[in-house]
Amino acid sequence: MRFSTNIASLVPSATLAISARAKRMQAAGESVIDLSAGEPSFPTPEVAIEACVEFARSGHSGYPPTPGIPELRSAVAAYVSSTTAMGEVEPDNVLVSAGVKQALFNASFCLFGPGDEVLVPAPYWPSYLAIVSLTGATPVVVPTDFGSGFRLQIGELERLRSPATRGLFLNSPGNPSGEVYDRDLLEQLAGWAAENDIWIISDEIYRRLCYAGDSATSICDVPHAVERVLHLDGISKAFSMPGWRIGYTVGPSEVIGKMSALQSQTTSGAVAAAQHAALAVLASPERDDIVLGFRDILRRRRDVAVEALNGIPGLEVRVPSGAIYLYVRLTSTSDSMAVAERLLVEGGVASIPGEAFGTPGFLRLNYAVSDEELKEGLARVRGFFS
Ligand SMILES: Cc1ncc(COP(=O)(O)O)c(C=O)c1O
Repeated sequence: MRFSTNIASLVPSATLAISARAKRMQAAGESVIDLSAGEPSFPTPEVAIEACVEFARSGHSGYPPTPGIPELRSAVAAYVSSTTAMGEVEPDNVLVSAGVKQALFNASFCLFGPGDEVLVPAPYWPSYLAIVSLTGATPVVVPTDFGSGFRLQIGELERLRSPATRGLFLNSPGNPSGEVYDRDLLEQLAGWAAENDIWIISDEIYRRLCYAGDSATSICDVPHAVERVLHLDGISKAFSMPGWRIGYTVGPSEVIGKMSALQSQTTSGAVAAAQHAALAVLASPERDDIVLGFRDILRRRRDVAVEALNGIPGLEVRVPSGAIYLYVRLTSTSDSMAVAERLLVEGGVASIPGEAFGTPGFLRLNYAVSDEELKEGLARVRGFFS
């Protein structure tokens, strides 16, 4: 069949495909521990469930406003104002979308196009490359190295910058690396981007899942950075609500307006009931207790995972400072695709190979699963490599 050139380089999300395969194997009765998925497994916070049920019972069945219900836009503005140094954020600076994924697409489609180049540090979340390519722009991968904690170097950005460079993706805490950028680096990045007229698309979906302090430092904490920054976050990770599909963008109102126009022509507003659920958690007096409660459990699971995998011949583990993954280096092969396949089939553990993130020779393991699954999964990984 012939498809349009729009999707010439499109491939399905590798991470979702592996998780789907693990689920199919489980459904067929195979004993598989799924450490591949990119989602926390805590139940939806009660306050969100109640708000959703109440909204459903209210009988409202209409389309929600495209940029988000006003109460949620205000709640996001208040949340971002109070948890970053961005200053007073107005509801006009906020667009609610069906997850950060849609927000990233809308942002990229509005800012980048054919002839543009967009810098994407590796290891990267795979959808960044696909999304940039769908806009017609060219993703330019920026290498980093394991030894320095995958720290982005301004020198590398400068080496890869060209007159066509229009954007830079940032993701701190990072998926898959779990690394968190410090303020000094963020200041350098903000300065470099402003000097070169480059947009920063800052995907901060793991911002609150940070093990040093209550939040990772945001690029929005850097004074004057925000004119050229889009800050993206949502409820998928911090509130363990990935299936509710609510994310948001905070940025200059002119860009938010364009992104909203694009959304109005593609999907309209995000699901109304899910917006009410998101509003309930973000506006709840328990908001920070919910997030920090999840974060503390995740920190314990991270420590358990690091301890279990440390010292296994063939594996090198760095302690991640945020997010929900261990990004484990394979010391004796760069063919992580083959190792992940064998670990799944012979070891009964689903993981994501580093090839998916642009850095072969690594395995990503999600430790945000139940204590029982984690214990069993780690024992299997240990057994397999031993
Ligand atoms: C770095 C990163 N950005 C965005 C997303 C997607 O977020 P959402 O569920 O809000 O679409 C994910 C999900 O795994 C992610 O890891």
